[in-house]
Amino acid sequence: MLLILNGPNLNRLGLREPGVYGSQTLEDLERQCEAWGAELGEAVTCRQSNYEGQLLEWIQEAQEQGFSGIVINPGALTHYSYALRDAISGQPLPVVEVHISNVDAREEFRHRSVTAAVCKGKISGLGFLGYRLGMEYLIEAEA
Ligand code: DQA
Repeated sequence: MLLILNGPNLNRLGLREPGVYGSQTLEDLERQCEAWGAELGEAVTCRQSNYEGQLLEWIQEAQEQGFSGIVINPGALTHYSYALRDAISGQPLPVVEVHISNVDAREEFRHRSVTAAVCKGKISGLGFLGYRLGMEYLIEAEA
């Protein structure tokens, strides 16, 4: 069972900078991840929060809730949240970091991720497909 987490402002997908993030909504993304989960034979739970503390609590509780891995798009928290980094490194599940846009092709402040080093890996710039690739990795890693 995989946990798909989206952080701050990702509830604005479809409305927010469509030239960068596309015209599909968070609901489209979550339905797509569930469909991919069904295709890959893995249950998927999708959650989004604009609150750092809420994301930390979901990560802290993920193992005891029975999840086997986490795909996370931390939004801008990626670039500065040591609390998020510590929450990821302080729990045992494998985590894949995903960004819809190519953060390395954007502003300088987006080039730095404080969370990627405590994740298994980072996928950036591949749109929603990055979530599927993260899910596939986690399913493969489980086997
Ligand atoms: C993002 C990239 C971040 O820099 C930005 O703050 C986001 C979205 C992405 O998915 O491309 O909110 O994580």
